[in-house]
Amino acid sequence: MKAVLCREWGPADRLVVADVPARDPGPGEVRLRVRAAGVNFPDVLIIQKKYQVQPALPFTPGSEAAGEVIAVGEGVTHVKPGDPVIAFSGTGAFAEELVAPAAKVMPMPPGLSFDVAAAFTLTYGTSWHAVRDRAQLKAGETMLVLGAAGGVGLSAVEIGKAIGARVIAAASTEEKLALCRAHGADATIHYETEDLRAAIKRETGGKGPDVIYDPVGGKFSEPAFRSIGWRGRYLVVGFANGPIPSLPLNLMLLKGASLVGVFWGEFTTREPANNLAGMQELMGWLQAGQLRPHISGRYRLEDTARALEDMAARKVTGKVLIVP
Ligand SMILES: NC(=O)c1ccc[n+]([C@@H]2O[C@H](COP(=O)([O-])OP(=O)(O)OC[C@H]3O[C@@H](n4cnc5c(N)ncnc54)[C@H](OP(=O)(O)O)[C@@H]3O)[C@@H](O)[C@H]2O)c1
Repeated sequence: MKAVLCREWGPADRLVVADVPARDPGPGEVRLRVRAAGVNFPDVLIIQKKYQVQPALPFTPGSEAAGEVIAVGEGVTHVKPGDPVIAFSGTGAFAEELVAPAAKVMPMPPGLSFDVAAAFTLTYGTSWHAVRDRAQLKAGETMLVLGAAGGVGLSAVEIGKAIGARVIAAASTEEKLALCRAHGADATIHYETEDLRAAIKRETGGKGPDVIYDPVGGKFSEPAFRSIGWRGRYLVVGFANGPIPSLPLNLMLLKGASLVGVFWGEFTTREPANNLAGMQELMGWLQAGQLRPHISGRYRLEDTARALEDMAARKVTGKVLIVP
């Protein structure tokens, strides 16, 4: 079977597509045929040894996939050959087949396409854990989302609206802001041309947001934190902009505010029951039409490097997929 291989750390153009032997699942594992795999920013980082998880070389990147079960290993009872499933395995998804731990494989809810199933789990799972679980966003509160047209950003916009909050979306182009409005954002900020602090003040009547969702980091974090409201919760989700910012602790004191860390992968391992509850709430919102995953591109397995380069260059919106 064909698989993308990362044989050396570095940029995406060093990835190769190779024929590798398919393998049977061991005890507690599930083997599946990948119909679609979601592309996420951690895939851009992991091949460069810049992610918190560093697999041994060579490895196949790709954190999540949807497909059909080919075989199950000893002790696996919750899925069987032929079942459509979602796998969130961290690596291995950019391939024709994937062998994943059974704990990271769940049956695909009825009515979902493979594309949506592959595009959903990681981004919406992360944003549910961040917004609902960690920040406890309430109806009537205001949330500012940075990088709001990206994968996790757009899912946070929709989850904020499903909760009943007012959502302000910040992004780098007019086209991205229009997409955020189409997905429910009540107000938008062009953070490459507007002064971020002045725009937040304008959009919150000077009060500041109750929750700030930050998957971007870099130059945006400190001005955003300085604008947060009283008892605000600042969600540290990621650093797509590059540098990991530092914040003076007096800022938290002055606003009675909290810095809240978010690490969805660790959450799924340490708190599987809470993650399942989150997935169930998300599936309910999805089936009610309150969540509308935006898939902006599909790439062949052979074009995986281009998909990762487009993501790193801020060219993609919502989610893009690898379709073997
Ligand atoms: N904590 C967790 O559990 C968790 C889970 C999943 C992802 N993440 C992290 O969340 C971040 C976003 O992931 P994603 O999959 O949503 O990525 P994405 O779709 O590429 O979105 C990232 C957004 O960041 C903005 N951005 C600003 N500067 C950028 C730069 N120099 N390069 C690339 N993007 C830049 C872009 O929006 P504009 O062009 O509008 O600025 C882009 O839409 C990543 O850092 C990822 O590692 C964390």
